[in-house]
Amino acid sequence: MSKRLTTTAGAPMPTNETSKTAGSRGPVLLDDYQLIEKLAHQNRERIPERAVHAKGWGAEGTFTVTHDISQYSCAAIFSEVGKTCEILSRWSTVAGELGAADSERDVRGFSVKFYTEEGNWDVVGNNTPIFFVRDAYKFPDFIRTQKRHPRTNLRSPEAMFDFWAAQPECVHQVTILMSDRGIPVNPMHMHGYGSHTYSMWNAKGERHWVKFHFRCQQEIRNRSNEDAEKLIGSTRENFQEDLFNAIEGGDYPKWELNIQVMPEAEAETCGFNPFDLTKVWPHADYPLIPVGMLEFNRNPDNYFQSIENAAYSPSNKIPGIGFSPDKMLQARVFSYADAHRYRLGTHYEALPVNAPKAAPMHHYHKDGAMRFFPQQTGHPDAYYEPNQYEGSARPDPSVQEPPLRISGDADRYVQEEADADYIQPRKLYTEVFDQAQRDRLHENMAGAMAPCSESVKERWYAVLEKVHPDYAAGVRAACEKDEVAISVTDETPTKVAD
Ligand code: HEM
Repeated sequence: MSKRLTTTAGAPMPTNETSKTAGSRGPVLLDDYQLIEKLAHQNRERIPERAVHAKGWGAEGTFTVTHDISQYSCAAIFSEVGKTCEILSRWSTVAGELGAADSERDVRGFSVKFYTEEGNWDVVGNNTPIFFVRDAYKFPDFIRTQKRHPRTNLRSPEAMFDFWAAQPECVHQVTILMSDRGIPVNPMHMHGYGSHTYSMWNAKGERHWVKFHFRCQQEIRNRSNEDAEKLIGSTRENFQEDLFNAIEGGDYPKWELNIQVMPEAEAETCGFNPFDLTKVWPHADYPLIPVGMLEFNRNPDNYFQSIENAAYSPSNKIPGIGFSPDKMLQARVFSYADAHRYRLGTHYEALPVNAPKAAPMHHYHKDGAMRFFPQQTGHPDAYYEPNQYEGSARPDPSVQEPPLRISGDADRYVQEEADADYIQPRKLYTEVFDQAQRDRLHENMAGAMAPCSESVKERWYAVLEKVHPDYAAGVRAACEKDEVAISVTDETPTKVAD
């Protein structure tokens, strides 16, 4: 039997189709409050889209610990092989708006929320192990170059390459972006990375620096520019379609969580800056250590409630996992919660998707818009702390992170690394990519640069030259070939007679 339709205040509704009017052809009466209510609600159905990573696809699942890493972390979730917790992932493109096509060339976001028994732990990473810049001052400007030009209201390759040419630390990430990996076939066929260096501490209080890797258990598959262009002509939503249908059909995507580990003291001697987000840690020196398996086996019942409302933040960490001196990470620890307060509201963490699912929660945050949760201090009279009330929430010093020695003068240290910025992209270009991959990289980059001015192109070739002369020459040749092709097309009479 169907349910009786009610107002949000619970009163039964006589109709949901016919307005109340003065006479059968007359105007609508103001006392048809439910019509007004319905229209007013529709006007409030949208919230600001995320400033970056607006377009995304999500799924729910389970994380299972498969290996003992208690020597590195005392986090309760890692205390036993076989232990599980619920997880929620959101994958995304960075630059496009909410309606952007899924198969555009872009870095993909890779966020995982682990609902552990000691609170929610978020890894908010990408499908690349590194990033464009290593100082947060540069992030808003970088993102501005990815978004629309104020006058043309179009994306601007001129702005992108102008910025990149002035920030050679970008060349590693731009190389990955323009390579085959720039257009994954869908979220299920790419690796994920925490990208930053984080830390773990164990029961003895020993700290290690760690990198998180989500190793894709499906084949890695990417799309060419031509394929993607054709596909976008027929669907702009193929990531959502593929992910939703795979999970609905019982074909559950999986990733293995691995860590790279560096003892705390080794950061001083390891020959590179392990806290520089534009560099990877060599796998030969810091091999992947398996931790557990993520399996995504549920589509959310309501996309908006679970995925649009999801508030990921690198600041969400649990005892046994900590930050590192990575300057970008420090900025992100502030930025995300601030974004959520703006996008979702003061009590965004009380929304069901963001509230801890497996951990008891007791805090002293009090009122504000949408205060819909009960008092969580453990005692009705305890609305401040410290207090006299037995049973009210108290801090637990045992979860304090071991002290971290920091030294040096407070100053603004320019992180210029000169030649060091070109070493890893050079290795990627010469040793990881084969000739066919290098050729496609040249073509993809030339395609992206086509609208740029000659001066921007020349400045970018100069950056590529420092990575490898063949890289600069290959992209220059591909650009020149495209320019010839365009000028031939321009000369071809295409005007159809009136
Ligand atoms: C989303 C800021 C760097 C990955 C966001 C959002 C902001 C932001 C404000 C929107 C949050 C929201 O409204 O829900 C920053 C700042 C950065 C930075 C200030 C540098 C200082 C990075 C890096 C990565 C990354 C290095 C990856 C390694 C993501 C992802 C999302 C995101 C995956 C989407 C999260 C989701 O699925 O909801 N970022 N970001 N960001 N960022 Fe960053």
